[in-house]
Amino acid sequence: MMAGGTSRNPHGSYESETPASRSAFERAAAVMPGGAKGAYYYAPYPLFFERGDGSRVTDVDGREFLDCANHHTAQILGHNHPAVCEAINSQVGRGVVLGGPTGAETELAEELCGRVESLERIRFCNSGTEATLHAIRLARGVTGRSRIAKFEGGYHGSHDAVEISVAPPLEAAGDRVAPVPVAGVRGLAPGATDDVLVLPYDDVEAAVGLIEAHASELACVLLDPKAGILEPVEGLAEAVSATASAHDVLLIVDEVVAFRLARGGWQQLNEITPDLTTYGKLIGGGFPIGAFGGRAELMDRLDMREGATGFHQSGTFSAHPVAMAAGLATLKELTVEAFQSLEQLGECLADGLSQVAVRHELPLSWVVSGSLFSLYFAEHPPRGYRDLAGCHREWNALLFHQLIERGYYLSHSLAMNAFSLAMEPGDVQGLITAIDESLTALAPSTN
Ligand SMILES: Cc1ncc(COP(=O)(O)O)c(C=O)c1O
Repeated sequence: MMAGGTSRNPHGSYESETPASRSAFERAAAVMPGGAKGAYYYAPYPLFFERGDGSRVTDVDGREFLDCANHHTAQILGHNHPAVCEAINSQVGRGVVLGGPTGAETELAEELCGRVESLERIRFCNSGTEATLHAIRLARGVTGRSRIAKFEGGYHGSHDAVEISVAPPLEAAGDRVAPVPVAGVRGLAPGATDDVLVLPYDDVEAAVGLIEAHASELACVLLDPKAGILEPVEGLAEAVSATASAHDVLLIVDEVVAFRLARGGWQQLNEITPDLTTYGKLIGGGFPIGAFGGRAELMDRLDMREGATGFHQSGTFSAHPVAMAAGLATLKELTVEAFQSLEQLGECLADGLSQVAVRHELPLSWVVSGSLFSLYFAEHPPRGYRDLAGCHREWNALLFHQLIERGYYLSHSLAMNAFSLAMEPGDVQGLITAIDESLTALAPSTN
């Protein structure tokens, strides 16, 4: 029988305890299709939040949760961190946007370039989507080639070049070692899929072979080292980097999420030197942001002093002073010791889950990477998209709602969770206990 039983309300006591969220959602959905944005929605309706403080968020029905989602991983310090609030207030006090550079963008750029060796130059935009769009456009412009390679299951934002083979139905996805590009949404430009070479994330030989076979058409390889928080298999990043470099294909590493892992991000831990890197989420301290940067020789095509190079990047709100100030204040808190504390929280979770999982019939597995974690219903942690597609994803919503009942707010897919510096080991212990109790409640034998 399905976990949780077929007769039981899959949302538990959710509806009876969240009347204010329900009416807020009904009002929202009358003017915004399905509510505010796609990623917020889960059945029967999402929680609406009233406030956040430190590690906690409070919903509009007055219930408090330990926030293990941290706004799609962006809130690495937790909510309302005093240093970030001070930086925001100080910038707002001087005017929000002033129609010219303020120097706040220079400070954040210096901080990022100082942390990441491969970043000689950087430019800011408003989202991770824009960051990958501009990085790919630069790669195409510089190489004069139109196709890009990306990994199956990798999400890089919502523009046409990358909404391909993010979560394709297996029946359309082709061979495991030579995946077919599948449009992720309707309405992409005709030919968008033809421009993408899809690589398997869990097969080094096949990925390298595909890049080699198509190298003369490829502008870049786009690698998200966390593709939904999955570690690349051993040797993948090194082999892809070496192959791309040997064929003058640019390597773009997408650290929109993975920058959470260390002071200099994922590439520092893995000793990979990309040509370009994209950023977003945490570097804005909770404000909309994106950035892309890398080798000066590539990025300087955007230098207006060079005259008409044919390259351009701008945007009304790019390098927004408040986002710059909040991002800088956030990064200043992210010392080596801060990353150690975050990692300890992750280790504590992994230890606790290994003790809990053996006690239950339901096959829980997990990937913990620094302060990031995802939970899966599968015998083994997935290594690539095909494994992910084979997980019992129909059980995720049941566990999500069980955890809500116990005061823990995770990403509703359970696949993109993150601890914050505002948390303590006791919070993680509480989460482990809540998962243990939830699995008991969901066990087939209890139905
Ligand atoms: C790895 C990665 N790249 C790019 C993006 C797109 O960023 P944004 O949502 O800011 O457009 C995301 C968003 O989740 C992401 O996880």
